[in-house]
Amino acid sequence: MADLGVYVHFPWCRKLCPYCDFAVEVGEPPHVRYRDAVLAELESRAASFTGELISIYLGGGTPSLWQPDCIAAVIAGIRARFATPRSASLEITIEANPTDCTDANLAAWRAAGIGRISIGVQSFEQDELVMLGRDHRFGDGATAIERVVAHGGFTVSADFILGVPTRAGRTPPWLEAVARLPVDHLSIYELTIEDRTAFGQRVRDGRLLPLDDDTLTDLYTTTHEVLGAAGFEHYEISSYARPGKRAVHNSLYWQGAAFLGLGVGAASLELASDGNGSGRRVTNPRKAVAYLAAPGVAAESTSIGAAEMACDRAWLGLRTADGVLETSLDAAPGIADWLVTESLAERRNGRICPSLRGFLMADRIAARIVQTWGDGDRACL
Ligand SMILES: C[S@@+](CC[C@H](N)C(=O)[O-])C[C@H]1O[C@@H](n2cnc3c(N)ncnc32)[C@H](O)[C@@H]1O
Repeated sequence: MADLGVYVHFPWCRKLCPYCDFAVEVGEPPHVRYRDAVLAELESRAASFTGELISIYLGGGTPSLWQPDCIAAVIAGIRARFATPRSASLEITIEANPTDCTDANLAAWRAAGIGRISIGVQSFEQDELVMLGRDHRFGDGATAIERVVAHGGFTVSADFILGVPTRAGRTPPWLEAVARLPVDHLSIYELTIEDRTAFGQRVRDGRLLPLDDDTLTDLYTTTHEVLGAAGFEHYEISSYARPGKRAVHNSLYWQGAAFLGLGVGAASLELASDGNGSGRRVTNPRKAVAYLAAPGVAAESTSIGAAEMACDRAWLGLRTADGVLETSLDAAPGIADWLVTESLAERRNGRICPSLRGFLMADRIAARIVQTWGDGDRACL
């Protein structure tokens, strides 16, 4: 049976971060109404998904704001709806803001079956936290990690943002501290300036100057070296794990496996049940008011042909250290040789595995694969 993941999006936040382009809103969350809407959507859409459930991921927004009894009901509903023969290894993650990692929440999340917490630390520098508009302060991130570790029973991940332009050209002083953290997993995202955000507007107005590419490349390379020396495996462009602690849920996305996305703005990937390699991408409305009015009614639904699906799997796979089988690149003639000649990847046991340079050039690699796929007939577009 194929692997299946379920993503649940909780869009509400205490405040909006000026760099964030996810489906988010501020205000008092309608806890119970949203729980019921998500469960109704689950009922209406679950039949299109047949795999074996290996992960549930509560993301946001700020799902750590959701009343724990609602979280527990949603997790129980999802588990009841799908086969989980390996339920002992079912990964259930919640994204949590540092100040929400209270002992009471941790106990309730654990009781709900959550075994993994992804803490949005973002930085260990007060000036970076201020620029990022975070609602937590210097020290809160480290305290949250200590508390989750001391509580026990959780796999602990932390998110950081690299390249905040507060001190151009200098390695963030927090990098060494991050390398010493007692966490199992780190996501280190390079700051993306999204058009529709306050940061996007500041860049257009000339009030915010992003770091230049050379500086970002240095920061990325230093991060790779420092975290590698501390025993973290750099297994995906932005992801580092202690041995055996790779994120199961995120890995489903990179493999092109099926996932059901529930809630405001959530996306899903359905795979054709006859195994012909095609699929469908479904996206929910981005506004809570629209979602709550008709849970399970998609804003967008696009079918994806088998060629496009294979193409997507190729460039997604090349974002991970394991890369892809060389034979899976047959539809893009010359790509494997180009990757190796340009030192963007190397051949390993029949696979094409990206190098650090390949991680740095991932967007260029994806563009080239999309252009070349299907021998230039643009079958992938
Ligand atoms: C959508 S957020 C939700 C989690 C949580 N509410 C928080 O922000 O801490 C998930 C992660 O995406 C990352 N992120 C969001 N927008 C980003 C951007 N524009 N550039 C880089 N990373 C970003 C942050 O590291 C964040 O922890």
